[in-house]
This record gives sequence, structure tokens and C-alpha cells, in this order.
Amino acid sequence: MRHLINIEDLATDEIENLIKVAKDIMKNPEVYSEKCKYKKLATLFFEPSTRTRLSFESAMMELGGNVLGFSEASSSSTAKGESVSDTIRTVGCYSDIIAMRHPKEGAPLVASIKSTVPVINAGDGGHNHPTQTLTDLLTIACEKKRLDNLTIGVCGDLKFGRTVHSLITAMSRYKNIKFVLISPEELKIPEYVKEDVLEKNNMEYIETNDIEEHIDKLDILYMTRVQRERFFNEEDYIRLKDYYILNKDKLIKAKKDLCIMHPLPRVNEIATEVDDDPRACYFKQVRYGKYIRMALILNLLEIR
Ligand code: NCD
Repeated sequence: MRHLINIEDLATDEIENLIKVAKDIMKNPEVYSEKCKYKKLATLFFEPSTRTRLSFESAMMELGGNVLGFSEASSSSTAKGESVSDTIRTVGCYSDIIAMRHPKEGAPLVASIKSTVPVINAGDGGHNHPTQTLTDLLTIACEKKRLDNLTIGVCGDLKFGRTVHSLITAMSRYKNIKFVLISPEELKIPEYVKEDVLEKNNMEYIETNDIEEHIDKLDILYMTRVQRERFFNEEDYIRLKDYYILNKDKLIKAKKDLCIMHPLPRVNEIATEVDDDPRACYFKQVRYGKYIRMALILNLLEIR
């Protein structure tokens, strides 16, 4: 039985295969519409979500399967003091596959050890978010037609942004990837990501707090929200939340084929005037997320 806890759980050829299947689903959705008939996906969300939970649910529905679950810890037996391990063993009796989001780093890993069905990490605290990364990889593969030879700017909350940590880890396996890490001093990328991923793989990267300094060199600009829920005090959040606001002016020197991404939700970090720019890919990214999750569900359930 396979789980997806970190993006490293997937080999490069497996990622390529998921992308291939997702592209095929986009082209021929009817072929897949009954592949998960009689299968059930449980979504256990101990932390809020719009896209991730609904995209898992809609992915399973489009495969002809059913969904059940909860969208906040307070409406589950967690509120009565039940452990994650007991919840997962219980839900395994009702479902064939589980997508789980939890505010504590490592909770989905603990769950997977006890689970009788495949567990997908749908985001654990400020740690990892592998299915957002699969979404990002499909977006890049479709929009840039390659996963190598890219200069990627990542901007915003690089400290707590779990999607950033998983994306950098995933990109470390492709050739000639350069990162421009744009953040205020307080929200710089964690040392463990630098040491264990960027430096270990001899990846080229620059750290800066200026979004415009290298914008002309970027193939991708990955914007992120300041992760309010991970801050210890509200004053720091208020001081940092509007540090970057990408608008039309800031894009003047950017490449014509720049791909602007964002895992969403957006707060203020991209002005709505950018939404009509052909380089804005963040709503397309949402759509890609459903297809790659369909491919992942099929893979983990070993349905061809
Ligand atoms: C991200 C997350 O939950 O980490 N959202 C998502 O899954 N699309 C990003 C965020 O919340 O800022």
C-alpha cells in the first residue's frame, strides 16, 4: 500500500506518469468517468481549505466515486479528545483512500503508519503540501512545456509557506533550475530547506527582499500569502502582510511569457488588475489541481 506524505515519496518517472495521465484525463474525461465506481474518498480536514478539499472531492466525483469527511476538527471526534491514529483507523473502515490536512507537522505521516488505506497529505502545518506541488508541476509542464531550464522566483512567506518547501524539493530533481527567493528577512526560507535541498543538490539560488530586482530573468513567479495562522503574534503579521503586492507596474520588465502562479487563497499579494494579464496562471492552476488529483487517486488505488 502506498501513501503520499512528501513529494519525495514519488520517483521522477512516477511524477511524469501522473502528469501524463492528468493530461489524458483533460483530453478524454469520459474514459475515466467510472474508474472509481463504488470507491470512497474520505477528506479529513483539521484545518480550513477551499481548493484542496473541494478539488479532491470533485476529482473523486469525476472518477465516478463517492466522498465523505469533515472540514473542521471541531465537527469531528477530535473535539472529544480522539487521537489522529484512532480517527484514521476508524475512517479506514468507511473509505478506500483518505486525504488529510492537519495543523501539526508530521500528523499525516503518523496517520499513514496506522492506516489500513492509502493516506494523502493535503498539507501539514508549515511543512509540506505534496498535492499542491503536483498541481504546480502539471501547471508548469502545460504552461512552459518543460520542467527543466527554468528560473523560478518564489515570493512572500517562504518560512511558513508549505507549498514553497514542497515545490523547491520537487524541482531539485530537474536540470538547470535557478531559484530567486524573495522575502522579507523574517520570512526567509528555513535553513533545513537550504541545507537539505538547495545546497545538497548544488542548486543555484539567490535570496533577496526586492521583487523587482530580478523580475526580468524569471520564467515563473510563484507568489504566496503571508501565513497568518502560523504567526505567534498578530503585530508581526500586520507589519509583514502587505510587504509585496504584485501589480502591473512591477511586471513592466518581466518576460512576455512569464507564468505567474499562486497556490491561493490570495489576500493582497497580487492586485486584481493582474488577473487579466495573459501571464496570470493562478486560476488555471486551480483547474490543473483537480486533474492531477484524479491521476493520483487512480495511482494510489492501483486502478489503470
Ligand atoms: C495553500 C496551503 O494550504 O498551504 N493553499 C492551497 O492548498 N491551495 C496556500 C495557502 O494557504 O496560503
